[in-house]
Amino acid sequence: MSMIKEKLKEKIEGWRPRTTMLLKEYGKVQIGEVTIAQAIGGMRGVKCLVTDISYLDPMEGIRFRGYTIPETLKALPKVPGREMPYVEGFIYLLLTGDIPTEEQALELVEEFKKRHKTPDYVFDMIKALPKDSHPMAIFAAAIVAMQRESIFVKKYNEGISKMDYWEPTYEDAMNLLARLPEIAAFIYRWKYRDGDIIPPDPNLDMGGNFAHMMGIDKPYDDVARLYFILHSDHESGNVSAHTGHLVASALSDIYYSISALIDGLAGPLHGLANQEVLRWIQGVMDEMGGKIPTEEEMKKFVWDTLNSGQVVPGFGHAVLRKTDPRYQAQREFCLKHLPDDDIFKYVDILYKVVPPILEEQGKAKNPWPNVDAQSGVIQWYYGLREYDFYTVLFGIGRAIGVCSNIIWDRALGYPIERPKSLTTAMLEEVAGIKK
Ligand SMILES: CC(C)(COP(=O)(O)OP(=O)(O)OC[C@H]1O[C@@H](n2cnc3c(N)ncnc32)[C@H](O)[C@@H]1OP(=O)(O)O)[C@@H](O)C(=O)NCCC(=O)NCCS
Repeated sequence: MSMIKEKLKEKIEGWRPRTTMLLKEYGKVQIGEVTIAQAIGGMRGVKCLVTDISYLDPMEGIRFRGYTIPETLKALPKVPGREMPYVEGFIYLLLTGDIPTEEQALELVEEFKKRHKTPDYVFDMIKALPKDSHPMAIFAAAIVAMQRESIFVKKYNEGISKMDYWEPTYEDAMNLLARLPEIAAFIYRWKYRDGDIIPPDPNLDMGGNFAHMMGIDKPYDDVARLYFILHSDHESGNVSAHTGHLVASALSDIYYSISALIDGLAGPLHGLANQEVLRWIQGVMDEMGGKIPTEEEMKKFVWDTLNSGQVVPGFGHAVLRKTDPRYQAQREFCLKHLPDDDIFKYVDILYKVVPPILEEQGKAKNPWPNVDAQSGVIQWYYGLREYDFYTVLFGIGRAIGVCSNIIWDRALGYPIERPKSLTTAMLEEVAGIKK
């Protein structure tokens, strides 16, 4: 058994009695109530999911295994000579809850290298798709195409014990995560670079190899590492994480679950917002003839968007009530590496003008920017200008968080998900409305 799997086994065995005791002895303790507004309104704030991988505080933002983003980036072992940590070390943290030593992070780097070989039929399948397919549709299809590789399905059919479900799930998850960067880079080079594919470099870590296969020079390797870490997990209720968890709860394997996650992430209110941000900014740039708008001019563009019944992409959040720390982390990267970039200047002006406008309009509960307001800018600057590809990068990151969650879901025996629905007439009756 590999070092990380051994460690995970130890953690899982230590954790199980906590869940068992809560369920057995405190199962009837109430943790909240549900209102009609929550039932109609997308279950906002209903406390009905459990995860220990990350927690999102509305005012503070995300903590991964108890660490804020700055704490995470500081504590994890760094790739030599680079600013950002190994993504593999971050995966170690999500899985075990512990900050790895450099040696432990490197062991995981080696483990991923062993698992990375993507079956050829995946690339053949991608090449058989129409080139104008959206990269998220191609990505989801490529992932589900590998379902036949599932070790979980094989073991399940052999009749393994429920207590051991997590082990083949772990194998599937690690195999899939090791392949996602290569599949994503292949989609990019096939779709936008005339099929000029760059093979992986077996000497590189996940972030470094992704930059290499994309054909983008340093410091894009650090951009990749930062992206995958920042986009990994945002507790369990968001569409992509919840979809992954929900599908996996039926004991569908990792390939089905992660492919479904990608479909959810592809919506413009969720992951696709980072593509929308760039498209919105490009529209403003076109109207301005490339000139940087004044704050007054920018206010007009924002009001025009709102008055035409559209949302301002990159602003607002279902849980957060302050500027997203994932936005801040990318902003700091921009201030250091691309302070004079025109699009960064646009984003900076938006940061000043949008929140007061959304407050004045009085609809959005959170007027502050989210992760998507900033992420496309960095990609654009480093030459990745095909913005419909941006959500694929988000998808690689999100798969890391959701795979970690699904392994633990299986380890703690979380059951199939099945909330209850009511009819409108039932709600009217509960509300005491007389007809
Ligand atoms: C993220 C988002 C989907 C959260 O939705 P939510 O939880 O329903 O947000 P709220 O409760 O604040 O929404 C209340 C109202 O404000 C509006 N609102 C929220 N964010 C807005 C924005 N950025 N621009 C304009 N209106 C916005 C909503 O559309 C809703 O309007 P309605 O009452 O007419 O339906 C929403 O803020 C949004 O659409 N943002 C833009 C897209 C985006 O950046 N998504 C990425 C999220 S990480």
